[in-house]
Amino acid sequence: MPRTIIEPFRIKSVEPLRWTTREERLQLLRAAHCNLFLLPAADVLIDLLTDSGTGAMSTHQWAAIMEGDESYAGSKSFDRFRNSVQDIFGYRNVIPTHQGRAAERILFGVMCKKGDVVPNNTHFDTTRANIEFVGAEAVDLVISEGRDPRVKHPFKGNMDVGALEQLIQRVGRERIPLVMLTVTNNSGGGQPVSMDNVRQVSSLCKRHRIPLYFDACRFAENSYLIRLRESGYESKSPKQIAQEMFSYGDGCTMSAKKDGMANIGGFLCTNDDLLAQQEKDLLILTEGYPTYGGLAGRDLEAIAVGVQEALEEDYLRYRIASTAYLGNHIAEQGVPIVQPPGGHAIYIDARAFLPHIPVEQFPGVALAAELYLEGGIRSVEIGTLMFGAAAKMDLVRLAIPRRVYTQSHIDYVVEIILEVWKKRASIRGLKLKYEAPFLRHFTAKLEPS
Ligand code: F0G
Repeated sequence: MPRTIIEPFRIKSVEPLRWTTREERLQLLRAAHCNLFLLPAADVLIDLLTDSGTGAMSTHQWAAIMEGDESYAGSKSFDRFRNSVQDIFGYRNVIPTHQGRAAERILFGVMCKKGDVVPNNTHFDTTRANIEFVGAEAVDLVISEGRDPRVKHPFKGNMDVGALEQLIQRVGRERIPLVMLTVTNNSGGGQPVSMDNVRQVSSLCKRHRIPLYFDACRFAENSYLIRLRESGYESKSPKQIAQEMFSYGDGCTMSAKKDGMANIGGFLCTNDDLLAQQEKDLLILTEGYPTYGGLAGRDLEAIAVGVQEALEEDYLRYRIASTAYLGNHIAEQGVPIVQPPGGHAIYIDARAFLPHIPVEQFPGVALAAELYLEGGIRSVEIGTLMFGAAAKMDLVRLAIPRRVYTQSHIDYVVEIILEVWKKRASIRGLKLKYEAPFLRHFTAKLEPS
């Protein structure tokens, strides 16, 4: 196999990028109050804010879009969407939603009540917020290796099975309506969960008659990392691995904006017919009729093709290699990152990068602002601005949109990060000028302290 990573596609339609000067970026950064969420996207050269809904669609997806059946009820597009999802996920009921968090709200709205407890390896913020919204408690039980950026472990997204058992003993199975596993574990650095761990969690859940659900956003990347890192899976296809993984659960929530390769959409699956009925009743109230669930027929078509394309081996090999390339090239020069590189993003450890900036002065936000100033790159802080004093780490996430940037864009990102690494001692901390009462990171205004 040649060593050079090439994109397993060629480009048919291009979107120009706009260059800005350093002076312009300084002005833009000031106008955005050092918060990259407040920047116009047109002033960003390489946008690594998120891998959600930002991917490029294939010719097959665009062609399928033209087949979109926009009938209100019983649309052909729904049949194609359900068949494609069932082929991979295997669950009896497939309920479309406008994105992942809508599936979460419906699932927890139906399954959870005040006083309940929902364990996960690590809850994503929308999952946690939707659980807390119904008065239940969201508990993170990732293995201890998953909490230390420097520790190398092939499956840092694994759930601590002993801790799950203890939790069940302590609160009682009646208060745990479901257990969740997030594949890959986004909030924990995009780290995968092993098949062995899925099996162990599943059998513990079965023993206590607790349903197991997947937060399946990045299921294809997780499947490929199992193939690369877990013995016994070297010769299985990513699809076979995904099918086996989902067979250990009772359902899932999904944001099709990630490994659905679509710009919008999601779904909720369950094997429980009674639950599915209640979920569809709620769906009609807030999302739409069960054969479209808040999506256009054409969106369902894009997802039907996208979930299959996400499992193609050539694509996954390039995707995982390209993410690892970025991580390894900056780590080799000393840049502290969450190790090993995960599936969809590289996470820089900002506390270790900028040890002279106290946590109260937002080292992650300061680093993200500097990456923009140096080279027009937009990343996102996952740390003290996002989570307040509860933040255990200050990370800067460089999330890579699917099929959007080429290897030379990635080389450019490496070069800019290494430039910033050289001048790290001169980077200053920030202080808050304005914060909203909740989810403050989206609108906060900051200035140099
Ligand atoms: N679960 C995980 C693990 C996620 O990463 C996300 C979204 C969701 C659920 C919610 O899905 O956005 O379609 O409602 N993550 C995006 C990100 C926003 O940037 O990581 P959604």
